[in-house]
Amino acid sequence: MDELRFPDGFLWGLATSAYQIEGAAREDGRGESVWDRYCRTPGRVAGGATGDVACDHYHRVDSDVGLLAELGVGSYRFSVSWTRILPTGTGAPNGRGLDFYDRLVDRLLERDIAPTVTLNHWDLPQALQDAGGWTARATVDRFDEYAAAVFARLGDRVPRWITHNEPWCIAVLGYWRGVHAPGVAGDLPAALAAAHHLHLSHGRAVRTYREQGHPGAIGITLSLAPHSACSGSDADGEAVRLSDGYFNRWFLDPVLRGRYPDDMVRHFSGLAGPLDFIRPGDAAAADAGIDFLGVNYYQPRVVRAAPGQYLGWEVLDEGSGGPRTAMGWEIAPGGLTDLLVRLARDHPGTPLFVTENGVALEDRLSDDGAVHDPVRVAFLRDHFVAAHRAIAAGADLRGYFVWSFMDNFEWALGYRPRFGVVYVDYGTLRRIPKDSARFVREVFTRNAVRPDGDDSA
Ligand code: FCB
Repeated sequence: MDELRFPDGFLWGLATSAYQIEGAAREDGRGESVWDRYCRTPGRVAGGATGDVACDHYHRVDSDVGLLAELGVGSYRFSVSWTRILPTGTGAPNGRGLDFYDRLVDRLLERDIAPTVTLNHWDLPQALQDAGGWTARATVDRFDEYAAAVFARLGDRVPRWITHNEPWCIAVLGYWRGVHAPGVAGDLPAALAAAHHLHLSHGRAVRTYREQGHPGAIGITLSLAPHSACSGSDADGEAVRLSDGYFNRWFLDPVLRGRYPDDMVRHFSGLAGPLDFIRPGDAAAADAGIDFLGVNYYQPRVVRAAPGQYLGWEVLDEGSGGPRTAMGWEIAPGGLTDLLVRLARDHPGTPLFVTENGVALEDRLSDDGAVHDPVRVAFLRDHFVAAHRAIAAGADLRGYFVWSFMDNFEWALGYRPRFGVVYVDYGTLRRIPKDSARFVREVFTRNAVRPDGDDSA
């Protein structure tokens, strides 16, 4: 089959986040984040792993940027570590922390790589957590101060900003289920309050960015998933609506429509009582108008009605029965097409970027010194093709970032899941590009993909 070309100017990139790769956890004045604390709480993270060393990126910026250039990336998505800039969450910014990112940005620009910078990829200062974290309204002000400091230093050179990465994960996994930092096994209102303050702080930071008068674009990244019902019954159809409301619309609507979805306000109030942390004018304040929406897509959600469950529905473990990654996530490229087309329909006029998509596998260094990952090559090819289909169907998709540049600290699962197109030998910290690295370089530089796989390394 002929190769599929992406629109001119389509932005190809690789993604990481600070805590997952940087290491140097106590250097140059960096303060403690909720993930530092969580990793030190016994039983929380697989194997007792921490991000203290991670991939040691903090000390290897020059060679890592060289590797990105070799891979032909147009943009590199990384995050700023909040506690390098504001070690205790408040007060004067730490110049040495800002210097690190200043240098990273300059190194990238020297290689013609456009920085895409995330402000909050989950590493809230522990000092702010001690004051309530995202459930506290004052954290909105603290985030705005942090954002203002980073914009002031880097805003002249960074063309694309992301306020938060995946508020659903922060709020639900962090403050209700307690399986991510800060590890609060709370309740639904706590998660909804955290989500609300994330939304408000997003709106504040977008306004601050524009007030500072920078030339770039600013948006937010959400974890989103297409939903389907396990049967054609009315009850399962209703379960889809509610689950989609809980996972997608509760996060999309405030930042894109300036309101929470009425059906979900009713549903959540019925479960949890009045949502009185939402004050008059708040929802409108969350919608400062974004320049683009970042979409993290990993797998679809298949749901069924479950009247006995607290939320009233459940997500099927078996999904739609497709193949699985090493982390047990379903491989379903068609879900990406469905998701992008739906976003284009529901939110016309909002440019989209896939800010994360990728696959964890049990990669191994072979005797020939290479890492052969044909499953990742096929996974990425199929998802690139799925994105191309969405563009053909009218979605205004502007770019695509693969998760991840290199293997790294996968949160509560530690270092076992390997998501990189570059293998990291954790014994020596040597970087070894996998076969998939050659594959993405080919796609990135040609701005095209061959659906039949001829373009694999
Ligand atoms: C996303 C996170 C990212 C990474 C991938 C696998 O939820 O944003 O940091 O861990 O999952």
